[in-house]
Amino acid sequence: MSGPAPGAAALVVGDLVAGYVAEVDILRGVGLEVREREIVTVLGPNGAGKSTLMKTIAGLVPVRSGSIRLFGADLVGVPAHRMVSRGLAYVPQTGNVFARLSIQENLEIGAAARGTRDGFDDDLERMYQLFPRLAERRRQPAGTLSGGERQMVAVARALMSRPRLLMLDEPSAGLSPLLVGVVFAKVREVRDLGLTILVVEQNARAALAISDRGYVLAEGRDRIEGEAAALLANPEVGALYLGSRQALG
Ligand SMILES: Nc1ncnc2c1ncn2[C@@H]1O[C@H](COP(=O)(O)OP(=O)(O)OP(=O)(O)O)[C@@H](O)[C@H]1O
Ligand SMILES: [Mg+2]
Repeated sequence: MSGPAPGAAALVVGDLVAGYVAEVDILRGVGLEVREREIVTVLGPNGAGKSTLMKTIAGLVPVRSGSIRLFGADLVGVPAHRMVSRGLAYVPQTGNVFARLSIQENLEIGAAARGTRDGFDDDLERMYQLFPRLAERRRQPAGTLSGGERQMVAVARALMSRPRLLMLDEPSAGLSPLLVGVVFAKVREVRDLGLTILVVEQNARAALAISDRGYVLAEGRDRIEGEAAALLANPEVGALYLGSRQALG
């Protein structure tokens, strides 16, 4: 059976309520949709629940109510370690590489999540083509890399599990403006390989520049939704997240 047509729904989240401790809801009714081969950015202030949203989709925070569907299948209650088999890979905001292991060992662990070594060498070669800097440094411990290179390892490791949907939590955090651009250019290349991408970002302008659509999350709810260009031009979004009170046009 062939996959869904381009543009079919990939991830559909409906009225999602979730939290860490009893009686404290962090997500208080989040809805969002990501279509096949889209890049969708989630923006929002610190503490809005952006990381919690990703962790909940990834099966790391229990769902209290609402729905999560990935490629038509129900994801609620699926444990985190089963997500690879559902086509989901998640790169968390922190702690996303094994610092003492080499780049290559990090990539091997990413592939191990698939449970088979079939196609491993080809996948590895593809990753080194996509990230040539990692190829040069493949025996080097990931902890000795620059911040930008570590993010590349984290993304490459996630890709080694052959996901259809990739979730990235602040892939450009702590990077210089130049490296922010490099990382986002890579995110776009990854999408062009055929993946669907959901990204959480503080660098709103850079993220929206490569995105198709975006959502603004505040206090555990989706507040604004739109095409990336419309969000860039939205004065409310501009004032809050783009470091400007001017619409960008
Ligand atoms: N493990 C946890 N246990 C309890 N509460 C948590 C936990 N992690 C996050 N929270 C709370 O959930 C709320 C949302 O946090 P979350 O990390 O999702 O925000 P965020 O939008 O990703 O913020 P940031 O932009 O700072 O990364 C915060 O009030 C936070 O204190
Ligand atoms: Mg966060």
